[in-house]
Amino acid sequence: MSNQLEKVQELIALRNEARLGGGEKAIEKQHARGKYTARERIAQLLDEGSFEEIDMFVRHRCHNFGQEKKSYLGDGVVTGYGTINGRLVYVFAQDFTVFGGSLSETMALKICKIMDMAMKMGAPVIGLNDSGGARIQEGINALAGYSEIFQRNILASGVIPQISGILGPCAGGAVYSPALTDFTIMTKGISYMFLTGPKVVKTVTGEDVTQDQLGGAEVHSTKSGVAHFAAEDGEECLKVIRKLFSFIPQNNLEEPPVMPCDDPIDRLEDSLNEIIPDSATRPYDMYEVIGAIIDNGEFLEVQRDYAKNIIIGFARFNGQSVGIVANQPKYLAGVLDSNASRKAARFVRFCDAFNIPLVTLVDVPGFLPGTGQEYNGVILHGAKLLYAYGEATVPKVTVTLRKSYGGPHIVMTCKPLRGDINYAWPTPEPAVMGGPGHVKGL
Ligand code: HXC
Repeated sequence: MSNQLEKVQELIALRNEARLGGGEKAIEKQHARGKYTARERIAQLLDEGSFEEIDMFVRHRCHNFGQEKKSYLGDGVVTGYGTINGRLVYVFAQDFTVFGGSLSETMALKICKIMDMAMKMGAPVIGLNDSGGARIQEGINALAGYSEIFQRNILASGVIPQISGILGPCAGGAVYSPALTDFTIMTKGISYMFLTGPKVVKTVTGEDVTQDQLGGAEVHSTKSGVAHFAAEDGEECLKVIRKLFSFIPQNNLEEPPVMPCDDPIDRLEDSLNEIIPDSATRPYDMYEVIGAIIDNGEFLEVQRDYAKNIIIGFARFNGQSVGIVANQPKYLAGVLDSNASRKAARFVRFCDAFNIPLVTLVDVPGFLPGTGQEYNGVILHGAKLLYAYGEATVPKVTVTLRKSYGGPHIVMTCKPLRGDINYAWPTPEPAVMGGPGHVKGL
């Protein structure tokens, strides 16, 4: 056999070994936990056959606690690039079969390399998280690795889209990278995010909680707002990422993709005549309005179950991506409170950074009054939304459907905050405050 052929065979053998991550037994355990491996996830996420892996043979360099005797090719993360619907993306997927996907110095270097390449190429970066946190054996070298990643998350923010899929544990310092990215998609049943686990919580506060109660997908998509989406399983998590990707551009200098559209832009929608009730205090469902006006009723809602008094998400008009922000009269009368304000503010800023026009549908009775809100910083959170709208330079179209009272009237609709065009339904009610509040308060 020629020397060259021998080398090729050696390379093939190494690749096969690397593809097994922590080995067949560890892969079986991963499947038994109801989870896919890092490589299986990447295959589901990207266009078939498009993945180009890099740094496949990297091993850790740690000599503490006998680690030099235990190392795996690839070292706990699979990194590379490929395409989603033909568009370039950079990906890293933590491999739980190797030291529980825990972050080592070399693993951090691999992730940072992918982030640097994504920035250089102006392409989104997607991280699939499934990790026991900092690799204990590596001590503060692992912590330094996190800070390198965080710094890149910060520099990439608003320049390239960053998306985090959470498909397993994500605890301690590991939570901050997803929190710095634009969208976090958690997976029910297998993923959790928290600063400290249930045992530490018990020691410090005396509370008894399970992992799921503390930081499961349900909690973070309903109570904390940390997760933007809660997927039923790992496959759905990756599908959500692909769908999200179809609405957003490659970077802050490009436009989102325009999709072929068979829904006429001048379509007349009679159902809109029936939606607004005659009584100003009667609720109605803003989803009906959104569904009726957007292309083919296709709406990708973000943070669906968090602060339901405001609705945010992506849709298209004539094939072009827009960000929708809408009060929901059906929930807390569509009032703006702290959570609704910060939910919408972050979304408006994302749309502004990535050239996605904003369509705002207004029916809002004001900011929610009371000590609960004041102590919670409703002033600051409301100001975040005000700032986000005032700063945004993407096209901003506002439609006032019914109430537009007080602070939110300024925040969500007003032309001095650089609104481009304001439409009014035949039933608008702009006012400093609602009738009863006005009369009793003066
Ligand atoms: C090294 C780790 C590890 C870690 C897991 N493993 N976490 N190795 N460092 N952080 C290893 C396990 O020893 C085990 O190895 C394998 O991964 C699988 O883990 P299991 O425990 O068998 O899996 P499971 O029962 O599913 O439990 C997963 C887990 C648990 C809940 C994540 O492993 C765990 O609690 N790990 C420690 C979490 C932690 O304290 N991380 C440090 C956070 S501090 P073998 O060889 O047995 O298969 C931190 C600070 C960062 O992150 C701050 C940055 C600013």
